[in-house]
Amino acid sequence: MQKDLGNYRKSYEKSALEEGTISDNPIELFQKWFYEVEASDGVDEPNAMTVSTIGLDGFPKSRVVLLKKYTYEGFIFYTNYTSEKGKAIANNPNVCLSFFWPNMERQIIIKGRAEKLAENLSDGYFESRPEGSKLGAIVSDQSSVIPSRQVLEEKLKALEREFEGKEIKRPDFWGGFMVRPVSMEFWQGRPNRLHDRVRYSLQDDYHWKIERLAP
Ligand SMILES: Cc1cc2nc3c(=O)[nH]c(=O)nc-3n(C[C@H](O)[C@H](O)[C@H](O)COP(=O)(O)O)c2cc1C
Repeated sequence: MQKDLGNYRKSYEKSALEEGTISDNPIELFQKWFYEVEASDGVDEPNAMTVSTIGLDGFPKSRVVLLKKYTYEGFIFYTNYTSEKGKAIANNPNVCLSFFWPNMERQIIIKGRAEKLAENLSDGYFESRPEGSKLGAIVSDQSSVIPSRQVLEEKLKALEREFEGKEIKRPDFWGGFMVRPVSMEFWQGRPNRLHDRVRYSLQDDYHWKIERLAP
């Protein structure tokens, strides 16, 4: 079986990325692009990002998670600390985040170091989640092998009974990671494959070097 995709071609013409017009700080450019994607209404979950880690088996692994907050310090997502990604990060905090927003013909690739979010911040976010999501986080030993879906559903029912009318506290094994960026690369599709690529590299705590890369 085979399918040739050689004819899948698209000309990218929506926008441009000029060094002279962009902020000195990549988080500000991230914010500008994020707002534009949100306003364009053409992406279902603009905060869905790919997180790549280096696993304990030595292989990189990528999966989609939801960006829940960004600040000048970095990018925050929530997950199970004992999941495959959680263990990978505990062993090697170097991660890569990437966003692809096809309707704007844009990609952002962020290299950074992940660290556990302060517990009070994870508590605050957990508290804001709907009850079903709270129990879902508790019930799932994320990334472990399970015998069947039924086992999970029964465990959830038991927890629903146990916690009925009670406060559901964030379990220790679940919380946020903050990824502090060291490099952020912005890609804007352009005609004739002459795409714009601009990379910011962190020089010290506050200064970023801006360079154009060949497409
Ligand atoms: C759109 C989308 C959003 C997701 N959001 C999250 C998330 O915020 N946190 C999370 O732990 N997993 C999320 N997942 C599931 C992950 O992709 C992944 O299956 C899970 O985290 C287990 O990954 P791991 O075994 O590599 O640790 C999401 C998946 C999709 C497709």
